[in-house]
Amino acid sequence: MGSLINEIDMSSLPRHIGIIMDGNGRWAEKRNLPRTMGHKEGTKRVIDIVEASYKLGIESLTLYAFSTENWKRPEDEISKLMELLIYYIRTQLNKIMKNNIKINAMGDLSKFPSKVITEVQRAMDLTKDNNKMILNIGLNYGGRDEIINAVKNISTDYKLGIIELEDIDELTFNDYLYTKNQPDLDLLIRPSGELRISNFMLYQLAYSEFWFSNILWPDFTEEVLYKAILDYQNRDRRFGGI
Ligand code: IPE
Ligand code: IPE
Ligand code: MG
Repeated sequence: MGSLINEIDMSSLPRHIGIIMDGNGRWAEKRNLPRTMGHKEGTKRVIDIVEASYKLGIESLTLYAFSTENWKRPEDEISKLMELLIYYIRTQLNKIMKNNIKINAMGDLSKFPSKVITEVQRAMDLTKDNNKMILNIGLNYGGRDEIINAVKNISTDYKLGIIELEDIDELTFNDYLYTKNQPDLDLLIRPSGELRISNFMLYQLAYSEFWFSNILWPDFTEEVLYKAILDYQNRDRRFGGI
Protein backbone atom coordinates (compact mmCIF):
# COMPACT_ATOMS: atom_id res chain seq x y z
CA MET A 1 0.00 0.00 0.00
CA GLY A 2 1.26 3.44 -0.91
CA SER A 3 1.56 6.37 1.43
CA LEU A 4 -1.52 8.47 2.13
CA ILE A 5 0.58 11.49 1.21
CA ASN A 6 -0.24 10.78 -2.44
CA GLU A 7 -3.92 11.41 -1.76
CA ILE A 8 -3.45 14.81 -0.16
CA ASP A 9 -4.56 17.83 -2.18
CA MET A 10 -1.50 20.07 -1.95
CA SER A 11 -3.52 23.12 -3.00
CA SER A 12 -5.74 23.05 0.09
CA LEU A 13 -3.43 22.18 2.94
CA PRO A 14 -4.21 23.47 6.40
CA ARG A 15 -1.99 26.53 6.85
CA HIS A 16 -1.73 26.05 10.59
CA ILE A 17 -1.81 22.71 12.42
CA GLY A 18 -1.83 22.38 16.21
CA ILE A 19 -1.14 19.14 18.06
CA ILE A 20 -1.84 18.32 21.71
CA MET A 21 0.85 15.68 22.06
CA ASP A 22 -0.87 13.45 24.59
CA GLY A 23 -0.64 9.83 25.71
CA ASN A 24 3.06 9.39 26.47
CA GLY A 25 2.40 8.18 30.01
CA ARG A 26 -0.18 5.60 28.95
CA TRP A 27 2.07 4.36 26.15
CA ALA A 28 4.78 3.62 28.73
CA GLU A 29 2.40 2.17 31.34
CA LYS A 30 1.06 -0.30 28.76
CA ARG A 31 4.61 -1.58 28.40
CA ASN A 32 5.36 -1.55 32.13
CA LEU A 33 7.91 1.18 31.54
CA PRO A 34 8.36 4.38 33.55
CA ARG A 35 6.27 7.28 32.20
CA THR A 36 9.43 9.11 31.21
CA MET A 37 10.15 6.42 28.60
CA GLY A 38 6.91 7.49 26.96
CA HIS A 39 8.14 11.06 26.87
CA LYS A 40 11.43 9.89 25.34
CA GLU A 41 9.62 7.98 22.60
CA GLY A 42 7.28 10.95 22.12
CA THR A 43 10.28 13.19 21.45
CA LYS A 44 11.17 10.98 18.47
CA ARG A 45 7.69 11.56 17.05
CA VAL A 46 8.24 15.30 17.38
CA ILE A 47 11.26 14.93 15.08
CA ASP A 48 9.23 12.88 12.55
CA ILE A 49 6.18 15.17 12.55
CA VAL A 50 8.18 18.39 12.27
CA GLU A 51 9.98 16.89 9.27
CA ALA A 52 6.75 15.66 7.66
CA SER A 53 5.02 19.03 8.15
CA TYR A 54 7.95 20.92 6.73
CA LYS A 55 8.09 18.65 3.69
CA LEU A 56 4.37 19.11 3.06
CA GLY A 57 4.72 22.87 3.20
CA ILE A 58 2.71 23.60 6.34
CA GLU A 59 3.20 27.28 7.29
CA SER A 60 2.76 26.95 11.05
CA LEU A 61 2.97 23.90 13.27
CA THR A 62 2.13 24.33 16.93
CA LEU A 63 3.13 21.60 19.37
CA TYR A 64 1.82 21.59 22.92
CA ALA A 65 4.77 20.36 24.95
CA PHE A 66 4.12 21.64 28.49
CA SER A 67 1.01 23.32 29.85
CA THR A 68 0.57 25.85 32.63
CA GLU A 69 -1.15 22.99 34.48
CA ASN A 70 1.63 20.43 33.96
CA TRP A 71 3.53 21.89 36.94
CA LYS A 72 1.21 19.72 39.05
CA ARG A 73 3.24 16.68 37.99
CA PRO A 74 5.98 15.05 40.09
CA GLU A 75 9.23 16.99 40.05
CA ASP A 76 11.27 14.19 38.50
CA GLU A 77 8.84 13.87 35.58
CA ILE A 78 9.01 17.62 35.00
CA SER A 79 12.80 17.62 35.04
CA LYS A 80 12.90 14.69 32.60
CA LEU A 81 10.66 16.68 30.25
CA MET A 82 13.06 19.64 30.53
CA GLU A 83 16.00 17.36 29.77
CA LEU A 84 14.25 16.02 26.68
CA LEU A 85 13.50 19.54 25.50
CA ILE A 86 17.16 20.49 25.79
CA TYR A 87 18.12 17.24 24.04
CA TYR A 88 15.65 17.96 21.24
CA ILE A 89 17.04 21.44 20.62
CA ARG A 90 20.70 20.38 20.84
CA THR A 91 20.29 17.50 18.41
CA GLN A 92 17.82 19.12 15.99
CA LEU A 93 18.88 22.75 15.76
CA ASN A 94 21.23 22.21 12.80
CA LYS A 95 18.54 20.48 10.80
CA ILE A 96 15.95 23.08 11.81
CA MET A 97 18.32 25.80 10.60
CA LYS A 98 19.02 23.96 7.35
CA ASN A 99 15.29 23.50 6.76
CA ASN A 100 14.68 27.22 7.28
CA ILE A 101 12.32 26.66 10.24
CA LYS A 102 11.72 29.40 12.80
CA ILE A 103 11.26 28.33 16.42
CA ASN A 104 8.79 30.32 18.48
CA ALA A 105 8.30 29.44 22.15
CA MET A 106 4.79 30.14 23.39
CA GLY A 107 4.48 30.65 27.12
CA ASP A 108 6.12 32.32 30.09
CA LEU A 109 9.62 30.84 30.06
CA SER A 110 10.67 32.58 33.27
CA LYS A 111 9.42 29.68 35.39
CA PHE A 112 11.89 27.26 33.79
CA PRO A 113 15.43 26.48 35.00
CA SER A 114 18.01 28.84 33.51
CA LYS A 115 19.64 26.19 31.31
CA VAL A 116 16.28 25.57 29.63
CA ILE A 117 15.72 29.30 29.09
CA THR A 118 19.22 29.68 27.61
CA GLU A 119 18.74 26.80 25.20
CA VAL A 120 15.27 27.88 24.03
CA GLN A 121 16.41 31.50 23.65
CA ARG A 122 19.42 30.37 21.62
CA ALA A 123 17.14 28.39 19.29
CA MET A 124 14.79 31.37 18.86
CA ASP A 125 17.63 33.84 18.25
CA LEU A 126 19.37 31.61 15.73
CA THR A 127 16.21 30.83 13.75
CA LYS A 128 14.49 34.23 13.97
CA ASP A 129 14.89 35.09 10.28
CA ASN A 130 13.90 31.66 8.95
CA ASN A 131 10.74 31.69 6.89
CA LYS A 132 9.81 28.31 5.48
CA MET A 133 7.81 27.12 8.49
CA ILE A 134 7.14 28.39 12.00
CA LEU A 135 7.40 25.80 14.73
CA ASN A 136 5.54 27.09 17.78
CA ILE A 137 6.30 25.12 20.92
CA GLY A 138 3.95 25.52 23.87
CA LEU A 139 6.14 25.70 26.96
CA ASN A 140 4.37 26.64 30.17
CA TYR A 141 1.62 27.51 27.73
CA GLY A 142 -2.02 28.04 28.59
CA GLY A 143 -4.68 29.55 26.34
CA ARG A 144 -6.15 31.57 29.20
CA ASP A 145 -2.74 32.78 30.25
CA GLU A 146 -2.05 33.89 26.67
CA ILE A 147 -5.30 35.87 26.48
CA ILE A 148 -4.79 37.51 29.87
CA ASN A 149 -1.24 38.40 28.89
CA ALA A 150 -2.49 39.95 25.66
CA VAL A 151 -5.04 42.02 27.57
CA LYS A 152 -2.35 43.26 29.96
CA ASN A 153 -0.05 44.26 27.10
CA ILE A 154 -2.83 46.01 25.21
CA SER A 155 -3.75 47.90 28.37
CA THR A 156 -0.15 49.01 28.81
CA ASP A 157 0.02 50.21 25.19
CA TYR A 158 -3.27 52.04 25.67
CA LYS A 159 -1.97 53.79 28.77
CA LEU A 160 1.19 54.77 26.88
CA GLY A 161 -0.90 56.12 24.01
CA ILE A 162 0.52 53.55 21.56
CA ILE A 163 -2.95 52.22 20.78
CA GLU A 164 -6.42 53.85 20.80
CA LEU A 165 -9.54 52.09 22.07
CA GLU A 166 -11.05 52.21 18.55
CA ASP A 167 -8.00 50.35 17.19
CA ILE A 168 -8.64 47.24 19.26
CA ASP A 169 -10.20 44.67 16.96
CA GLU A 170 -9.56 41.04 16.05
CA LEU A 171 -6.66 42.00 13.82
CA THR A 172 -4.79 44.06 16.40
CA PHE A 173 -5.60 41.58 19.17
CA ASN A 174 -3.76 38.94 17.13
CA ASP A 175 -0.60 41.02 17.41
CA TYR A 176 -0.62 40.48 21.15
CA LEU A 177 -0.82 36.69 20.97
CA TYR A 178 2.12 34.29 20.72
CA THR A 179 0.97 33.51 17.18
CA LYS A 180 1.36 37.10 15.98
CA ASN A 181 1.37 37.29 12.15
CA GLN A 182 0.34 33.67 11.81
CA PRO A 183 -2.91 32.25 10.42
CA ASP A 184 -5.60 30.97 12.79
CA LEU A 185 -5.45 27.31 13.67
CA ASP A 186 -7.01 25.32 10.80
CA LEU A 187 -6.61 21.83 12.17
CA LEU A 188 -6.41 20.75 15.79
CA ILE A 189 -5.13 17.22 16.37
CA ARG A 190 -5.41 15.44 19.69
CA PRO A 191 -4.28 11.85 20.03
CA SER A 192 -4.65 9.70 23.20
CA GLY A 193 -8.43 9.39 23.24
CA GLU A 194 -9.18 12.44 25.39
CA LEU A 195 -11.93 14.62 23.96
CA ARG A 196 -10.91 17.97 25.39
CA ILE A 197 -8.87 21.07 24.69
CA SER A 198 -6.89 21.26 27.94
CA ASN A 199 -6.34 25.02 27.67
CA PHE A 200 -4.79 24.89 24.19
CA MET A 201 -5.05 27.92 21.85
CA LEU A 202 -8.46 29.02 23.07
CA TYR A 203 -8.47 32.13 20.90
CA GLN A 204 -6.94 30.71 17.72
CA LEU A 205 -9.19 27.68 17.46
CA ALA A 206 -12.44 29.60 16.99
CA TYR A 207 -12.95 27.95 13.58
CA SER A 208 -10.52 25.02 13.72
CA GLU A 209 -11.47 21.58 12.54
CA PHE A 210 -10.99 19.05 15.35
CA TRP A 211 -9.42 15.65 14.77
CA PHE A 212 -9.34 13.23 17.69
CA SER A 213 -7.80 9.77 17.76
CA ASN A 214 -7.15 6.98 20.27
CA ILE A 215 -3.59 6.65 19.01
CA LEU A 216 -1.08 7.53 21.72
CA TRP A 217 1.45 10.21 20.82
CA PRO A 218 4.48 7.82 20.79
CA ASP A 219 2.62 5.80 18.12
CA PHE A 220 1.80 8.87 16.01
CA THR A 221 3.45 8.30 12.63
CA GLU A 222 3.62 10.49 9.54
CA GLU A 223 0.82 8.40 8.04
CA VAL A 224 -1.44 9.39 10.95
CA LEU A 225 -0.71 13.03 10.19
CA TYR A 226 -1.57 12.47 6.53
CA LYS A 227 -4.83 10.76 7.56
CA ALA A 228 -5.77 13.75 9.73
CA ILE A 229 -5.05 16.11 6.84
CA LEU A 230 -7.10 13.98 4.42
CA ASP A 231 -10.04 13.99 6.82
CA TYR A 232 -9.63 17.75 7.21
CA GLN A 233 -9.79 18.13 3.44
CA ASN A 234 -13.15 16.35 3.43
CA ARG A 235 -14.71 18.74 5.91
CA ASP A 236 -17.03 21.52 4.80
CA ARG A 237 -15.70 24.69 6.43
CA ARG A 238 -18.48 27.23 6.33
CA PHE A 239 -17.23 29.85 8.79
CA GLY A 240 -20.80 30.77 9.58
CA GLY A 241 -21.86 30.98 5.96
CA ILE A 242 -24.08 28.53 4.11
C1 IPE B 1 1.73 14.18 27.12
O1 IPE B 1 1.62 12.89 27.61
C2 IPE B 1 2.99 14.86 27.57
C3 IPE B 1 2.75 16.03 28.43
C4 IPE B 1 1.59 16.44 28.85
C5 IPE B 1 3.92 16.77 28.85
P1 IPE B 1 1.08 12.59 29.06
O2 IPE B 1 2.23 12.55 30.00
O3 IPE B 1 0.00 13.52 29.46
O4 IPE B 1 0.51 11.13 28.87
P2 IPE B 1 -0.77 10.51 29.55
O5 IPE B 1 -1.93 11.42 29.25
O6 IPE B 1 -0.49 10.43 31.01
O7 IPE B 1 -0.91 9.18 28.91
C1 IPE C 1 -2.24 18.47 27.57
O1 IPE C 1 -2.12 17.18 28.04
C2 IPE C 1 -0.93 19.18 27.68
C3 IPE C 1 0.12 18.73 26.77
C4 IPE C 1 0.03 17.78 25.88
C5 IPE C 1 1.35 19.44 26.91
P1 IPE C 1 -2.49 16.80 29.54
O2 IPE C 1 -2.22 15.35 29.69
O3 IPE C 1 -1.75 17.69 30.48
O4 IPE C 1 -4.03 17.14 29.62
P2 IPE C 1 -5.16 16.61 30.59
O5 IPE C 1 -4.64 16.73 31.98
O6 IPE C 1 -5.41 15.19 30.22
O7 IPE C 1 -6.34 17.47 30.31
MG1 MG D 1 -2.02 13.45 29.26
